[in-house]
Amino acid sequence: MRIGIIGKGRVGSALATGWRAAGHEVQLSGRDTTPGVADLANWADVIVLAVPYAALENIAATITVTDKPVIDCTNPIVMGPDGMGLAVGHTTSGAEQLQALLPGAHVVKTLNQVGAEVMADTTGFAHAPVQLLAGDNDAAKATVAALLSDLGLEALDAGGLSKARLLEPFALTWINQAIAQKHGRNWAFGAMPRAVQ
Ligand SMILES: NC(=O)c1ccc[n+]([C@@H]2O[C@H](COP(=O)([O-])OP(=O)(O)OC[C@H]3O[C@@H](n4cnc5c(N)ncnc54)[C@H](OP(=O)(O)O)[C@@H]3O)[C@@H](O)[C@H]2O)c1
Repeated sequence: MRIGIIGKGRVGSALATGWRAAGHEVQLSGRDTTPGVADLANWADVIVLAVPYAALENIAATITVTDKPVIDCTNPIVMGPDGMGLAVGHTTSGAEQLQALLPGAHVVKTLNQVGAEVMADTTGFAHAPVQLLAGDNDAAKATVAALLSDLGLEALDAGGLSKARLLEPFALTWINQAIAQKHGRNWAFGAMPRAVQ
C-alpha cells in the first residue's frame, strides 16, 4: 500500500519505520517540502496527518482528497492555566473539524493514544498495545485497522467519527500518566478480554 505521511517528526518517522518494515511503500513530506504535500496526497492510497493540530487547517487547504482514508494522529492540545487541556471537546473533536475541512476524505482518528516510541517498535509487551480507531466509513476503518495490525497494535473499533471526542481526551490520559505520573513513554494501553468466563 502507498502511504503518504505529512509530518516528518517523531510520529511521522516512527510510522514510516514500522510500515516500511511491514512492506509498505512510504513517503513523507514536511514543512521544508510543503509544495510536495499536494503531490504526496495525490500519490498515496492512505494519507497520514502527523503534524501539530494547529497545522491541520493550512494542510487541508493545500490537498485534495477524494474517497481515501486520512489518518488523523493529532491531538488538539493547548496549554492553559492548569497545564495541558483540550482545545475542543464534548460537542466536537479535532477529527470532526478535519472531516469538515476535507469532505471527500474518510477521516479515521487513531494513532493519537500511544507514544511514537511504541508506534515504531511494539516488541516486548506481554499483550499487543491497543489503539482505538473512530471513523464513519467502514471500508476506510478496515484499511486502517490492517495498518495498525502491521505495526503490531491491536485495533479496537470505537465507532463513528464522533467517538474521537472520547479518543482525544483519552490521549491526554496517556500523556498525563507519561509525564505528570512519571511512567515515562515506554508503555501503552492494552485491552484484555477475560480468558475464562
Ligand atoms: N510524539 C508522540 O508520541 C505523539 C503520539 C501521538 C500523537 N501525537 C500527535 O501527533 C502529531 C505530531 O506529533 P510529533 O511528536 O511527531 O510532532 P513533531 O515531532 O514536532 O513533528 C511535527 C512535524 O510536523 C511538521 N509540520 C508542521 N506544520 C506543518 C505543515 N504545515 N505542513 C507540513 N508539515 C508540517 C513539522 O515540520 P518542521 O520540522 O518543519 O517543524 C514536523 O516535521 C501532533 O499532533 C501530536 O499531538 C504525538
